[in-house]
Amino acid sequence: MFLHPTGKFDNSARAYRHIEVKPLAAAMGAEVLGVRIGSESDAQFAEIEDALFRHKMIYFRGQQIGHAEHHAFSRRFGDFAEDAYTDGMPGFREVQPLIKEADDNSEHVFGSGWHTDSPFLPEPPAITMLRSVQIPPFGGDTMWSNSALAYAMLSDFMQWLVAGLKVHFSIRDVLASAQVHAEQRDSPVGRLAALKELPPAVLTKVRGNMHPLVRTHARSGEKALYLDPSYAIGLEGFRDEEAAPLLKYLNDHLTQVAFTCRLRWETGMLALWDNRLCVHQAFNDYQGHRREMYRTTIAGEVPR
Ligand code: SIN
Repeated sequence: MFLHPTGKFDNSARAYRHIEVKPLAAAMGAEVLGVRIGSESDAQFAEIEDALFRHKMIYFRGQQIGHAEHHAFSRRFGDFAEDAYTDGMPGFREVQPLIKEADDNSEHVFGSGWHTDSPFLPEPPAITMLRSVQIPPFGGDTMWSNSALAYAMLSDFMQWLVAGLKVHFSIRDVLASAQVHAEQRDSPVGRLAALKELPPAVLTKVRGNMHPLVRTHARSGEKALYLDPSYAIGLEGFRDEEAAPLLKYLNDHLTQVAFTCRLRWETGMLALWDNRLCVHQAFNDYQGHRREMYRTTIAGEVPR
């Protein structure tokens, strides 16, 4: 039994009939075995979806698939989400390349800094799917933190205090940081930041959106903290100086090591996570080596 030491979350595998699941850490994450992406049955798919909601992040190993299979598997989860940053691959507009070349010495990498994907949108993506093609010999891991466990670990009084609060999410600070770091120009965020005048679609993302700080999962009904240190810039009705310490406390709480899992990538992996139930971050620790990944995002609902 993989019971989280706090007793507030159980990451043990269910006894599925059509897939096998192996938990990755006590706090969250699991490997799914016995599935060939592209040939999965409906019964397997139903269990994969259940495992995703339970473990928040799941991954498959040894999947020799291309954009077509990645695209088709993503579509099984719903419509594609709007991607805030890139234009996609030729023939597969919704498959976004995340490639860092060996000679790219930027201080930043796409996805570094804890975040949930595009929460500044009115309907942020529910699920993200990341496929590995080339992995550096060391580094380049991804980490996730369990936002449902973080919510469960707040005191009853803190849960009462934060119920009903709304977070202001904006792309503002991420763009500003990319504008400072000129070497980021050749990255999805850097290309946006380099524009002399921001187009209306980007200005809309700077204005951003307010979403509930305590989010109820549309499918499972599970409650989770919905914020991150990258895009949450304020709280509705609060002055900035009032919101900042509360956001800092909640972000520190949310991203503490006890709530996380970490994936050491191999070539041919596919990882899926539920942005409503976890935050994630990439690492820029493989200078001199190439990393080639492809990403899709699945549409979500207005957070409630
Ligand atoms: C992301 O934030 O979607 C990218 C994660 C990664 O490249 O590890």
